[in-house]
Amino acid sequence: MAVHDRIIVKSRLNRRFFVPNLSPNIIKRHSIGKKVKGLLLTVQKLIINGGKRLRGELSLQGAKNAVLPILAAAALCDGEVTLKNCPRLSDTYAAMRILNSLGRKTTFEANTITVDGAGISETQISESLMREMRSSVIFLGAVLGKTGNCKISLPGGCDIGARPIDMHISALKKMGAVVTESGAGLSCESAGRLKGAEISLFFPSVGATENIILAAVLSEGVTVIHNAAREPEITDLIYFLRKCGAQIEGAQTGSLVINGVERLHGCEYEIMPDRIVCATYMACAAAAGGDIVIRNCRPAHLTAVTPVFEQMGCAVHSLKNTIYFSSGKRLNAIDIVRTMVYPGFPTDAQAFVMAALCKADGASVFVENIFENRYRHVGGLRRMGADIQVEGKVAVVKGTPRLFGANCSAPDLRGGAGLVAAALGAEGRSEISSVRYIDRGYEAIEATLSSLGADIVRV
Ligand code: EPZ
Repeated sequence: MAVHDRIIVKSRLNRRFFVPNLSPNIIKRHSIGKKVKGLLLTVQKLIINGGKRLRGELSLQGAKNAVLPILAAAALCDGEVTLKNCPRLSDTYAAMRILNSLGRKTTFEANTITVDGAGISETQISESLMREMRSSVIFLGAVLGKTGNCKISLPGGCDIGARPIDMHISALKKMGAVVTESGAGLSCESAGRLKGAEISLFFPSVGATENIILAAVLSEGVTVIHNAAREPEITDLIYFLRKCGAQIEGAQTGSLVINGVERLHGCEYEIMPDRIVCATYMACAAAAGGDIVIRNCRPAHLTAVTPVFEQMGCAVHSLKNTIYFSSGKRLNAIDIVRTMVYPGFPTDAQAFVMAALCKADGASVFVENIFENRYRHVGGLRRMGADIQVEGKVAVVKGTPRLFGANCSAPDLRGGAGLVAAALGAEGRSEISSVRYIDRGYEAIEATLSSLGADIVRV
């Protein structure tokens, strides 16, 4: 198998095994391979017997939405890159496979990823790799910025909205790229290095901000991004790139100034903790009741989420990189939760906070302002007995005293996490299928919850 057909993953017990890519040519040759892969991915499910309070402590995983752009940034570096605190997720493996297909060897030992210092030998990313996740699109900025051309198909990812990439493309064009769009793909090239440009985003898009940064760090001249996204994951990307020699000012502000340099060297970097996964386990404890301790987190990243849990009646105490969370009596409803860009309430937390509020005393209103199709978990919650009405961007959750176990399917990554949270607080047995969506963002979710006393198994 060619190197990019597999990545070497060492388990915590230092046992070496390959994560087969089952690359397209293998699957095409053996249609059974396609069926087997598809079957394996869809039949896995979580069985949860709810009603048990959670108690114990967990150490938080590294952030998916930080490691993915930083893996793309590794493609820009001449030299080896070592990333610590990387989460073991299917999306992480997918990003490593993209790097492999570009000619960069990767290894994953315990929670450390190493990307070798070879150059980029390929500038086209295959459709099967692009379709594995949304954030594959940020490899476009990195490969174009490094080599002057890149061919990709449109990215895959959770079906939470149309998720166009018009801002990405218009920015790259401003930097001198010639972009040819055809069918499901696009080809970009620039005569020599990209040129710095002044770019204003009509919306502070996370992905567009990341793509522009990745395209600009090796470009000629200065790039200014107005109305840039300010999510902590973007700050992590900026800190990584600075450690590799990039010149970027304005981190954590909405205005970034990037002074292009000739080359970037490798470095060793530790990925930030995952704030959304942290909020997820808080929601699980809120839904089931319990007292949990979350270590290796960054409470400052949760300033818009913690107050919501406190209004629900939960106790949240933070000390350095630890959160002490407890939930006892029936939760209070929340008048209105509006999802916003950072530092507002994150859209990624909407599904599992809604799950926790299904048994609250009163009605809670959600307004989903970021994605147009991000209530796909409501069907599963209703099957558990939740009383939820959805009208466009607005969802009204009327709290009921009890939820009951049901069979449902994870519609997407965070919707799946919401169904898990609700099932933990429901009476009886729930089966949640399509666990592959949950595995995109949660490292061993059933092991973590079992360690907190939940009755949950993967079958
Ligand atoms: C990132 O997605 C995250 N994904 C998402 O997390 C997160 O929900 C989202 O940012 C918002 O915080 C990763 O980081 C891998 P956007 P992204 O570009 O970059 C519109 C999860 O669960 N838009 O900020 O795709 C777009 O349609 C995932 O971990 C355009 O119109 O988000 C959306 O409505 C889900 N044109 C809004 O902006 C563009 O060119 C926000 O999208 C780009 C975006």
